[in-house]
Amino acid sequence: MEERKLLILYGSQTGYAEDVARRISRQAWRRHFTAHVQALDQVDKRLIFTSSPVIFVCSTTGQGEEPDNMKRFWRFLLRKSMPHDALSSLEFAVFGLGDSSYQKFNFPAKRLFRRLQQLGATALVRRGDGDDQHYLGVDGQLDPWLEELWEEVLRRWPLPRAVVPEDVVPDSTFDVSFGEAQEVEEVDVGVGVGERITAADHFQDVRHLRFAIDEGQDPPPVWAPGACAVLRPRNLSADVDEFLAAVGWTDRADLPLRISPRSTAALAWPQAVTLRWLCANYFDIMGVPRRSFFEMLSYFSPSVEERDKLREFSSSAGQDDLLAYCMRPRRTVTEVLGDFPRTAPAIPLPYVFDVFPAIAERSFSISSAECPAAVDLTVGIVEYKTIMQRVRRGVCTKWLAQMRVGEALGMRFARGTMRLPPAATPIIMVGPGTGIAAFMSFIQSRPGAANYLFFGCRGEKKDFYYQEQLQRWVGEGSLHLYCAFSRDGPSTVYVQDRIREHSQAVWSLVASQGAVVFVSGNASRMPDDVRQAFADVVAANNPGMSADGASGYIAGMVKDGRYQEECWY
Ligand code: 2AM
Repeated sequence: MEERKLLILYGSQTGYAEDVARRISRQAWRRHFTAHVQALDQVDKRLIFTSSPVIFVCSTTGQGEEPDNMKRFWRFLLRKSMPHDALSSLEFAVFGLGDSSYQKFNFPAKRLFRRLQQLGATALVRRGDGDDQHYLGVDGQLDPWLEELWEEVLRRWPLPRAVVPEDVVPDSTFDVSFGEAQEVEEVDVGVGVGERITAADHFQDVRHLRFAIDEGQDPPPVWAPGACAVLRPRNLSADVDEFLAAVGWTDRADLPLRISPRSTAALAWPQAVTLRWLCANYFDIMGVPRRSFFEMLSYFSPSVEERDKLREFSSSAGQDDLLAYCMRPRRTVTEVLGDFPRTAPAIPLPYVFDVFPAIAERSFSISSAECPAAVDLTVGIVEYKTIMQRVRRGVCTKWLAQMRVGEALGMRFARGTMRLPPAATPIIMVGPGTGIAAFMSFIQSRPGAANYLFFGCRGEKKDFYYQEQLQRWVGEGSLHLYCAFSRDGPSTVYVQDRIREHSQAVWSLVASQGAVVFVSGNASRMPDDVRQAFADVVAANNPGMSADGASGYIAGMVKDGRYQEECWY
């Protein structure tokens, strides 16, 4: 019988799109497809011309951008040399993950869908638009979309045998057993120092962290202003111990593991991988698990009661209950295991990579410029109370905050999205809060140039980061600084208010001097509010221009790369 093949490709920033891709793969397996799951940038691009059907799952980052691990693939698809019917033998489906409260909701998925059609490919079903704003998250749209997808796929490629029932566990993705480890890869080494840069009585703990690059790194790392440091946080040893006890691995935690294939994980593996090492460095044991975690656990539960509950949590009908039990109170993987005490120790070793999610990498803008000796980061320590009144700290910032001088860690560098113009061109930077980080590197790299910064924080004496350095630059003629202290005065003042106040000067920079505008910081409402302020500046200085005309002017600047945003959640 002919092999039924299905390729599932994902572009994922936090691992959610990858999780969805793997779920589709398990469903494909039940329908007798041989499914391969890969990141878009990892796949052999030729496969896309020869494979069909292909299912694409991609998330959205920043302001409607492609996730890092599909950027290369996306550029490849956009090549001018691509024949207009290059993909005429491809049948595809696209599911996007995004948040409809953002203007550029699911733009990568929308662009991908359109481009594939342009290149002659045929869509099997409508594009699926997963929306974080749905009360069930993207799952709210995923389930109905998958039903449509399978109906169409099975119409084209009918089932040769009955569907494999839901309670039969698919093969594990990895081969994991106890035994001697194989190949070695070096861990990149850096050393950290950190100090709090908000007042002791301020509600938020923001740190300035400096990482010294180990001498003798060959070649020495280089980065341009605006670049990001990419870190994979680790779990603290107390958390690891608690987790090991919950899964009953304490006595086996330090035995060497044999794992194949190893290369799929973008991680520097030490010589001897152990369960303890994986729990400390790879498994997201302190994260909030997704639905697939419950699905995988359900296969291995020796207890009927626990299995029924786990099955319910992974079914479409059980999503409201799962939301109330797990997502809303932000229960961690370890806590959930504690609630399923018969299931937790029954997880078979070969399935550990299928059951436990990987820790996602985090990117931080580097606030030092091209300095060969040190990488500076500005990091807000995440801490909040769950609805059950438990204090939770962000996995990454909790790890960073407890780091001691002299500790080693691995770091990658990635290009940011903002591009500096030549030093002769003025720049207007809008960076409230930790949005200032990348701008510190910009200013440092353009001494004496026309640098304008709109900075916003709660109070001059509370969270005015880098006040001394900024004022020094002002004194040296390297910076024009406008501050908005939102809680110091009788009424709220934001960066956009300062932009409107300096309307004429801003307009002159933009219109007469060709200034480039950069906006960086929290992505929730600030980017749209700031864009509106710039549109107001355009309108105020062009009597008779309509509001649409003014917004159009800013849209034109965006298109020309003269208005650039880099924002995060
Ligand atoms: P707030 O916390 O007093 O509301 C950095 O976080 C600064 O950005 C703070 O002063 C914060 O003010 C401010 N901020 C909050 N929402 C904003 C928005 N939509 N636009 C611009 N600044 C905002």
